[in-house]
Amino acid sequence: MKSVRIGLMGLGTVGGGTATVLQRNAEEITQRVGRSLEIVRAAAREINEQTVFAADSSVKLSDDAWDVVNDADVDVVVELIGGYSPARELVLKAIENGKHVVTANKALIAMHGDEIFAAASEKGVSVCYEAAVAGGIPIIKAMREGLTANKIEWLAGIINGTGNFILTEMRDKGRDFDDVLKEAQALGYAEADPTFDVEGIDAAHKLTILASIAFGIPLQFDKTFTEGISQVTTEDVTYAEELGYRIKHLGIARKTAKGIEMRVHPTLIPEKRLIANVDGVMNAVLVQGDAVGPTLYYGAGAGAEPTASAVVADIVDIARTFESAADNKVAALGYQAGKHSNTPVLTSDNFETAYYLRLSVEDRPGVLADVANIFAQQDISIEAVIQKEPASEGERVSLILLTQTVQELKMNTALSKVEASNISDSVTRIRVEHLD
Ligand code: HSE
Repeated sequence: MKSVRIGLMGLGTVGGGTATVLQRNAEEITQRVGRSLEIVRAAAREINEQTVFAADSSVKLSDDAWDVVNDADVDVVVELIGGYSPARELVLKAIENGKHVVTANKALIAMHGDEIFAAASEKGVSVCYEAAVAGGIPIIKAMREGLTANKIEWLAGIINGTGNFILTEMRDKGRDFDDVLKEAQALGYAEADPTFDVEGIDAAHKLTILASIAFGIPLQFDKTFTEGISQVTTEDVTYAEELGYRIKHLGIARKTAKGIEMRVHPTLIPEKRLIANVDGVMNAVLVQGDAVGPTLYYGAGAGAEPTASAVVADIVDIARTFESAADNKVAALGYQAGKHSNTPVLTSDNFETAYYLRLSVEDRPGVLADVANIFAQQDISIEAVIQKEPASEGERVSLILLTQTVQELKMNTALSKVEASNISDSVTRIRVEHLD
């Protein structure tokens, strides 16, 4: 059978990993697919003798990605350059030229996926993006195919390796935030702009995609609530541990009677949950289906070869369905075109979650009663309280509260009252999820 001819755009960490995996496992892959996968063209911003394929005359190298999408010899364009533009224009042109596309670009899919999938469907080509979410974990395949019989009720994931690496090192080794971030950059885990990792934008891109597959809604990145980990302190990490919890940066999507919650934020999770023990650059996604119950997917969320594993699996999927009619293929977001629902995505006021709160209060009798009073007015039940000793006489003390589940609007109202009453000169709040 004719080989599948690949054009690679981007020869950085993931591009290099893809070339290595395709080369090293060529024999097994060919035996599994029934045809060989051959890289015929590659583009990188700079070409020199260190560039992957520099010594391989069978791969045409170029410093212009447009050469790849316009090459008549290329069947599948693999986009590994990242970012919104020119990735969007390149992918749309590749589709217009009748090429299948594989991408690891979560930003592109979260922002422009609906437009790209519509163009691909019109042209009868596939656009695959397994590597865009949770690196090497085949979560897109699991949700679109393995769980297709289910109504998904909720999902929660650690979907940014860099953020998880930072939180793990802070907890285990008391390391400094910036120092760990630098290491993640050197290891090739972090985004080109690391604020995407730290401020939750990367996780929000991925959650937007997962929520769309889970609930059959259009991609709505702009409606995903996003809060990063830069405000998480070692103090909160320690208090969370005292209460039997770990702080993880979670992406959560949940269908409620009112609509869909899509949110990314630091979250306290009971330490006995498996997902609370997912450390370092590893990712994990917990998916609750109505038929299957809870399922957990775990693996490396970033890095050259884990991400390449997902990229190559997508190329293989395309190779296997080369001759199939478009309507015999799995729909890009799991639901057929035109069958997406208009269930509203909820604003944060409507979220329902429990809270960890750290207040800095005067060390005087009645302060706890004052706080409890304000919470009672909003129907907020307090589940646990820890009061710390003052460092010295007359100093303010940390008062840590765990609440039961409450509507976020009520919590906002209560906390503005606490702030307005001068009971506490600062309030730290972190949402709590029991994931049971
Ligand atoms: N910056 C991302 C992460 C890379 O740390 O998870 C994989 O998407």
